[in-house]
Amino acid sequence: MSFLQLQGVSMGFGLPGRRTEVLADIDLEIEQGEFVAIVGYSGSGKSTLMSILAGLLRPESGRVLFDGRDTPEPGPDRGLVFQNYSLLPWLTVYENVALAVDQVFSNLSPAERRSHTERFVAMVNLTPARDKRPSELSGGMRQRVSVARTLAMQPKVLLLDEPLGALDALTRATLQDEIARIRLAEKQTVVLITNDPDEAILLADRVIPLTAGPRATLGPSIPVTLPHPRDRRAIHGNYDFKQIRHEVTQYLLKARTRHRTTLTRALVLPDVEPEDITHKSPPMFGPKGRARRRNEVKTETVEVSL
Ligand SMILES: Nc1ncnc2c1ncn2[C@@H]1O[C@H](COP(=O)(O)OP(=O)(O)OP(=O)(O)O)[C@@H](O)[C@H]1O
Ligand SMILES: [Mg+2]
Repeated sequence: MSFLQLQGVSMGFGLPGRRTEVLADIDLEIEQGEFVAIVGYSGSGKSTLMSILAGLLRPESGRVLFDGRDTPEPGPDRGLVFQNYSLLPWLTVYENVALAVDQVFSNLSPAERRSHTERFVAMVNLTPARDKRPSELSGGMRQRVSVARTLAMQPKVLLLDEPLGALDALTRATLQDEIARIRLAEKQTVVLITNDPDEAILLADRVIPLTAGPRATLGPSIPVTLPHPRDRRAIHGNYDFKQIRHEVTQYLLKARTRHRTTLTRALVLPDVEPEDITHKSPPMFGPKGRARRRNEVKTETVEVSL
């Protein structure tokens, strides 16, 4: 059995008539020590998939198997780095990391917990900023705190939901290198979700495209056999890199099928009203000449290209 596995997972939100079918028939197998990247369009259901992997969301159908257990509760053994940092604003860099360490390693002595926290703050090069609060940090620094906090819990699997999406290109490149370095050093199992195929190929052992929603599903798994550590400048000229990139992007483009979807929008009625024959005098129109039923909504099914 694989270390982390999804079998026939489907997920949607909302009540009948207003439902969004987000994920359909997702099968995924991740082995211990693997680095798998899932690449998908914005809004396709990437965070939903990640929340299911983390155990924060229970799928409507299908199974989640993790480390030999069926549909386990969420816990620190599946460490999730969120898309939007989610740091506690009133705590310093050190305290944000220490909070997680104190909860997970309550069996260690205070001195051991202190040195563990310091090790992970140093790992993401934030020792000089350890007493700063999130509001005093740049976006890249905040994301590094978020990565350090999750790594410090020493999860069995590291789940990264677009951890670098909000960063500028330079900071993004620095953090990509840091993630690659830490992963090699710690031999961690990693699932990275991203909308950037280059980032996926640079870091992962395997890239899997996620088709556009609704009913997004995973495509074929594309192995990346380029040796680690990978040099981002050299890799762009590499033939295998270009081939994999082509394969991933072609799959994502081809999978952009036409979908039927339901739109609900305000119905703008013509500015007229039937004549009220019981009254001879005006007004024949609603107040200020506008249609009286202007808050009415209309639902229609349309074909859209995603
Ligand atoms: N709790 C929820 N309730 C209702 N709809 C939701 C919920 N969570 C997600 N959705 C819907 O599911 C779809 C996928 O959302 P999700 O956040 O998983 O996408 P994403 O690929 O992570 O997007 P992004 O690229 O913007 O991060 C969206 O249409 C969203 O509106
Ligand atoms: Mg998301």
